[in-house]
Amino acid sequence: MKPISTAGIILAAGKGTRMKSATPKCLHRVCGVPMAELVGRAMLAAGIARPVVVIGHGGQEIRDALGPRFDYAWQREQLGTGHAVLSARESVGREFDAVVVASGDTPLLSPDLIRELVARHREAGAVCTVATAIVEEPDSYGRILRDGGRAVAIVEARDAATEILEIREINAGLYCFDASALFALLPKLEAANAQGEYYLTDAVRALSEAGGTIETMNLENPELLAGVNDRWQLATAERELRMRFLRSLAESGVTIRDPETTHVCVDATVGPNTVIEPGTVIEGKTSIGSGCKIGPFTRIQDAIVGDEATISMSQVVRAVVERGAKVGPFANLRPGAQIGARAKIGNFVEVKNSTIGEDASAAHLTYIGDSAVGARANIGAGTITCNYDGIAKHRTEIGEGAFVGSNSTLVAPVSVGENAFVAAGSVVTHNVPADSLAIARARQEVKEEWAAHWRKRKRAETV
Ligand code: UD1
Ligand code: CA
Repeated sequence: MKPISTAGIILAAGKGTRMKSATPKCLHRVCGVPMAELVGRAMLAAGIARPVVVIGHGGQEIRDALGPRFDYAWQREQLGTGHAVLSARESVGREFDAVVVASGDTPLLSPDLIRELVARHREAGAVCTVATAIVEEPDSYGRILRDGGRAVAIVEARDAATEILEIREINAGLYCFDASALFALLPKLEAANAQGEYYLTDAVRALSEAGGTIETMNLENPELLAGVNDRWQLATAERELRMRFLRSLAESGVTIRDPETTHVCVDATVGPNTVIEPGTVIEGKTSIGSGCKIGPFTRIQDAIVGDEATISMSQVVRAVVERGAKVGPFANLRPGAQIGARAKIGNFVEVKNSTIGEDASAAHLTYIGDSAVGARANIGAGTITCNYDGIAKHRTEIGEGAFVGSNSTLVAPVSVGENAFVAAGSVVTHNVPADSLAIARARQEVKEEWAAHWRKRKRAETV
């Protein structure tokens, strides 16, 4: 007897004309992840070992984006969903008795739904189990045809007569098939329909006519399988998945003050007791620790934020903010910025490709680029590292405990030693040794009584 195991196929070869996009439809992202990948992840989580993604339009792009967790089968010409499944036959192989087929444009599909479908399929001993839903506006969905209560066929809206269009039970586009029955039948499909395509839905009728049982799994929440065919449906799916993910974060102990204006990529992690303020966008594979305060009005992308950090009204991209650091308001942490524990990066401070040591501070109006700033160093307001000479970038080193006075210009390559002082307003072009003072500005001159004499002269001129 062959083992009971389930394969998976994801249909993602179509162009998605209704998206009006150069990007293949299934690559459009929902909460930061391509739709076809979300479907694939649901299959993996449901225990399907290596889902096969059927690719065609923009196939290489899809393959590059989804990566090696999946197998791929080419459908060179998009001749319909039935033809697409047939294209995956060789990649699926023969060791499976059941195969789950899903569309790459149903990003809300959950692992639970797939498990339930497969369980139902096996219990019923069905040749095909299809997820259906009763909806108010059946629209362009295929309609479920029943005979004496049993499902016997699916009729595409385009091919349906008026009385069939009135059926409100629709094909949600998720199936579990007996693998050998399906693959034996697919080559026999005909394309005698409005679109001239080989429809997977016609396989259901044929399997029923051959005496097999067609089981249905009625969905209480049809939106779980809402297909995304245009950009408004994309926006709707995004909102649904976003709310679902925010809710799971809230349930794990994260405070989300305003879900309506909070966007978090599903690949991001947020620790408990962190508070996310309104207007916060967290993108990519960002990890945020516990007990943090993030936002309001903050964008964080592909960043690592340690426990108890505070980031407000700032942008943080491919940067690291360590435990207890305070960032913002109005800071710009660019790629390669690494802010040490308890350090402070204040308003109008930009940091790029630089490390800032523990307890260091750059509280106002500063640019730090290609630099290393030691622990406890203080960078005064208006300090600029001049890292670029018009041809190449150079490094600035600022030692532990150094004090750089306000409005200093550090012309790289240059270093300021440990515990050294740079007087305010200096233009530093030579290295400053540890524990020393560098003053690089014009010496102050004072002309006593000058102002009083000047005013007296002016007044005399005007009478
Ligand atoms: C399909 C079903 C319809 C169902 C609906 C549910 C068919 C014929 N119709 O319609 O009954 O109600 O899904 O959402 O199956 N694709 C390929 N190769 C092709 C054609 C399509 O890979 O040759 C892929 C598409 O990229 C897409 C998926 O199959 O991801 C579904 O195709 P789509 O054109 O969106 O089908 P619907 O018209 O939505
Ligand atoms: Ca669709």
